[in-house]
Amino acid sequence: MKMNSFSRVGFILAAAGSAVGLGNIWRFPYITGEYGGGAFILVYLLAILFIGLTVFLAEAVIGQSGQSDVSTSFVSLSKSKNKNWKFAGFMVATGLIILSFYSVVLGWILDYVITSFGTLPTEAKVAGGNFENLITNDIGSLIVYHTLIAGSVIFIVLKGIKEGIEKINLILMPLLGLILFGLLMYAFTLDSFSQAVSFMFTPDFSKIDGDALLAALGQAFFTLSLGVGTILTYSASLPKEANFVKSSFMVAIVDTSIALIAGLIIFTYLFAAGAQSAAGPGLVFISLPVIFSGWGTLGNVIAVSFFLALIFAGITSAVSMIEPSLRFFIERFKMTRQKATILCGATFYILGIVALLSMSKSFGAELTFFGKNAFDIMDFMSSSIMMPIAAIIICIFLGYFVDKELLEQKFTKHTSSAVFHTWYLLIRYVVPIAIIILFLNKLGAI
Ligand code: PFF
Repeated sequence: MKMNSFSRVGFILAAAGSAVGLGNIWRFPYITGEYGGGAFILVYLLAILFIGLTVFLAEAVIGQSGQSDVSTSFVSLSKSKNKNWKFAGFMVATGLIILSFYSVVLGWILDYVITSFGTLPTEAKVAGGNFENLITNDIGSLIVYHTLIAGSVIFIVLKGIKEGIEKINLILMPLLGLILFGLLMYAFTLDSFSQAVSFMFTPDFSKIDGDALLAALGQAFFTLSLGVGTILTYSASLPKEANFVKSSFMVAIVDTSIALIAGLIIFTYLFAAGAQSAAGPGLVFISLPVIFSGWGTLGNVIAVSFFLALIFAGITSAVSMIEPSLRFFIERFKMTRQKATILCGATFYILGIVALLSMSKSFGAELTFFGKNAFDIMDFMSSSIMMPIAAIIICIFLGYFVDKELLEQKFTKHTSSAVFHTWYLLIRYVVPIAIIILFLNKLGAI
């Protein structure tokens, strides 16, 4: 086996590590809460199955066939070998942009790991004040945290696929599973567990409107790490004969299970204290600490474990965001991994500093453009513009510019031709249309 390629298990673990992140444990529960639970989850599951998984398989087949960076793989797989497909490589930049603010958010969480050893806030007002103070005032700490997170990401990816990425996933993913298992077991013992189950699994379709559908679709993309070239780049390190179809299904199953488990844990805890499910993005930073404070020392243990789980999940996602651009510079500019890491690492580190300063009281005004601060601009540019554009390009590319027989051959080596034909139909028509609707809506055109 090549030094810098995954084993099949390593690939599944690393791709699952990429998929399982803040999107599952922080974002999924709060948007599920906002859209009223059961019906939203049902729509989300359908979005994962028919749309997310389709694009996941698409990135996997391009990556595994190309065995190179995003640009090179697109060109080599295209029917005409048209060199212009190299421009699809733009999507690797998205990972760096997401990583900039993702690292800042992981920094906030690091602060929560540390402060959870001390006295927890007993009132929502105090918890809200703490959170606000951290992100708008405490620039010194935020820079230290961001530096620690960015430094760890850089340290891991410098070691390469096998020694860095595969290894860290081998360590952190089981630890994450263990912590979540513990938190779930505790949730089982609480009376509110059944309330959480019925909130999450009793669909009330009156809550579903266009916004909910789009939120479910957006979440499906984000949680499966699609439209950034991450899955494509990881698949390029997958042995050529490995079963990418089965691996893709497994990653989607792991990712979805963890989102559901995180939801069960968080809603059980929230309902135990009679708290609201629709607390928005502050749900884990404001509502949860107050609940934990009511549980005495056990509350501290649970708080520390919970925020550590978020860090572990987030780090394995963070390393996957930088890898597409590293591979791009290594393959196309013949850079060494060290050089590429310094270049990409410095870029996201500096952008991260800009993002964190833009939330502060002292520098916010200078770093706000068109009514949005730099943090929100990076979030909006990446998840609302660049990710959907990349996803559309991936669909159009495979649906119309790659030899159908070749794709059929690759799929049917591992699965039935019915699965292939369903996938092909989805990639040509259903998914691009769904994404275009999502995209236009995000731009406010609908
Ligand atoms: N899937 C990650 C999460 O759910 O937190 C986020 C993510 C990772 C998005 C990697 C994009 C990416 F390339």
